[in-house]
Amino acid sequence: MATTTFWHSLWRTKPVDQIVSEGGDGEGGGLKRSMGLLALTFFSVGATLGTGIFVVMGEATPLAGPAVVLAFLLSAVTALFSALSYAELAGTIPVSGSSYSYTYATMGELVAWVCGWCLLLEYGVSVSAVAVGWGQYLNDFLDKAFGFTIPDAFSQAPDKGGIVNLTAVFIVMAMTFLLLRGASESAKVNTFMVFFKLALLIFFCAVAFTGFESGNLKPFMPLGMAGVSAAASQVFFSYIGFDAASTAGEEAKNPKRDLPLAIIISLAIVTIMYVLVALASVGAMPWQELNGDTEASLSAILTDVTGQTWPALLLSAGAVIAITSVVLTVLYGQTRILFAMSRDGLIPKIFQKVNPKTSAPTANTLIVGCAVAFLAALVPLDQLTEATSIGTLFAFALVNIGVMVLRRTKPDLPRSFKTPLYPLTPILGVFFCLYVMKGLRGVTWLVFIAWTVVGLAFYFGYSRRNSRLLRQDKELT
Ligand code: ALA
Repeated sequence: MATTTFWHSLWRTKPVDQIVSEGGDGEGGGLKRSMGLLALTFFSVGATLGTGIFVVMGEATPLAGPAVVLAFLLSAVTALFSALSYAELAGTIPVSGSSYSYTYATMGELVAWVCGWCLLLEYGVSVSAVAVGWGQYLNDFLDKAFGFTIPDAFSQAPDKGGIVNLTAVFIVMAMTFLLLRGASESAKVNTFMVFFKLALLIFFCAVAFTGFESGNLKPFMPLGMAGVSAAASQVFFSYIGFDAASTAGEEAKNPKRDLPLAIIISLAIVTIMYVLVALASVGAMPWQELNGDTEASLSAILTDVTGQTWPALLLSAGAVIAITSVVLTVLYGQTRILFAMSRDGLIPKIFQKVNPKTSAPTANTLIVGCAVAFLAALVPLDQLTEATSIGTLFAFALVNIGVMVLRRTKPDLPRSFKTPLYPLTPILGVFFCLYVMKGLRGVTWLVFIAWTVVGLAFYFGYSRRNSRLLRQDKELT
């Protein structure tokens, strides 16, 4: 009997009505509804467009040659199927916990926990990665503008001669303090930064296309399809974040209409930008010269094309601002997911305490900021980006499955957006996620397995016993 109850409790789903009413009109959590469609779309673009295109593209190009453009398209397709599933669930369950809340409603507490645990990789660890990339452009800018750089010991990851990456720590802590001032302040700063970074990438394309030589694209796929999928697994990182609007469900003015739209529009915007930037890059410079050692790769291309330093200087300065907005929005997303998990009793209550003046979850934000800064200070970029990708892809796969489960278990639930060609799209979504995961290194898989084991130990040691759903059930019986 006890075993049956234990087993049953692991798969207990949280009723959709309860999830939505807790997030309700801001009553459950005290977060303020201040974001419209533009702010939400820019929030997702802000969280997406950053280190991936500015830094990781340079590292992925040697794997695929000019076909890195295809790698971006392949990753976009993977992201698209999952984006459609995100849009459907965000329109049905418009709260702040993103895929964690969706899996809680569809596949039960244990799977929701694993999903939330993976989201720590998608959000928390990715901010660390992004912050490391930020430091690389900061140094490039300082070098070009003032002829000096912060010594490697304090601005690089350990694999590139660093001891403690203080530049990465600095940007994480600065954005942590901005978030403490509240969401609407942060959204305003973010909207400005997103306009700015879109303009910057358009400027890059305009200059790089002037140096376009079709000969640089031949042969287009020198390392075959295997190279393209390896590069796709790397550049997938650059798409992570399009789902960020789904972490702001409780701060959206009209979440049912705006969340699905924001997710899809933001993915369309970044895909167009990435394909143009990748094409402009490999067209402007022989791919063999675009390698991971050229840290600020986009700015190196501009110097090469124009033979002048000012375009590259402008790009480096812009990249510093552009990547800042990723740090800001993704940090924000992480705090909101933890907020939802805390409300469910799966992590300690401190994560849901909101400052009445700013409406920001203060302790939550500070804890996240410090943990992210710690990783950013000590771990190399490629390890951080791969850990981020594997966790994200797993969470995406769960969201695709969640759509199918919810269609079966609650077919009559009002849905403001339905994924087209159902069930083909979510099935392809799962398939593509697994395909891109397959391309990641063995060591990344080992880290992921270890991470999941630690997560499960925490769940059985703490979360299960403190689960609010479990307590509610006990009160009822
Ligand atoms: N997609 C985000 C970036 O590329 C994480 O910086």
